[in-house]
Amino acid sequence: MSRRKLLIAPSILAADFTKLGSELASIEQDADWVHVDVMDGRFVPNISFGPFIAKAVKRSTQLPLDVHLMIVEPEKYIEEFAEAGADRIGVHVEACPHLHRTIEQIHGAGARACVVLNPSTPASAIEPVLGDIEQILVMTVNPGFGGQSFIESMLPKIEALRTLIDSHNPDVLLEVDGGISEKTIDMAVKAGADVCVAGTAVFKHEDRGKAIRDLRRAAGYQA
Ligand code: DX5
Ligand code: ZN
Repeated sequence: MSRRKLLIAPSILAADFTKLGSELASIEQDADWVHVDVMDGRFVPNISFGPFIAKAVKRSTQLPLDVHLMIVEPEKYIEEFAEAGADRIGVHVEACPHLHRTIEQIHGAGARACVVLNPSTPASAIEPVLGDIEQILVMTVNPGFGGQSFIESMLPKIEALRTLIDSHNPDVLLEVDGGISEKTIDMAVKAGADVCVAGTAVFKHEDRGKAIRDLRRAAGYQA
């Protein structure tokens, strides 16, 4: 049986922004993507940063940028993030009344489209657009802050999406975000995740390479 690849995407939200360049250098060898959390203080209670920082991140790494927009009206900023260097752009179902149009806009801007589900949003919300996207992100915390606990009751949703992806559009990557650690990654991967975002579990460790390799090992993969 061929095994899916496991991708690790450290979130720079947990990095030290006084030295972003060396923080990114510390994950370059072992990470697969860089996860970029954009928060507007409206869709989520917290404010992080915008395209200006995304651009600085792009200049400091060769890794693909996985931009997670936790903002209202994301359609206003898609081109700007694509120009800043986003390879993948994630928008929340809950923030997009015209989700299909927004996905087309992401493609038109030259990026891969990811659709994100809050913990209270059912897997079925993705069905009408499953054939149009490259990635699904299941939030395993309520978005807005790093360092929260993994919500285990999201596991059946991850499993349901895995089944849906395998039967309808197997190229879609299934990503999980929030509370991923050596303790929780195995559950998420067993449920069907291909990509694991990890903020605290990577950047709050001295040795980032080791932290990433320990995550892979904890999920049963060769580090
Ligand atoms: C939460 C963000 C996550 C967060 C992950 O709103 O979308 O990407 O930074 O951080 P940890 O891994 O610490 O839960
Ligand atoms: Zn995120």
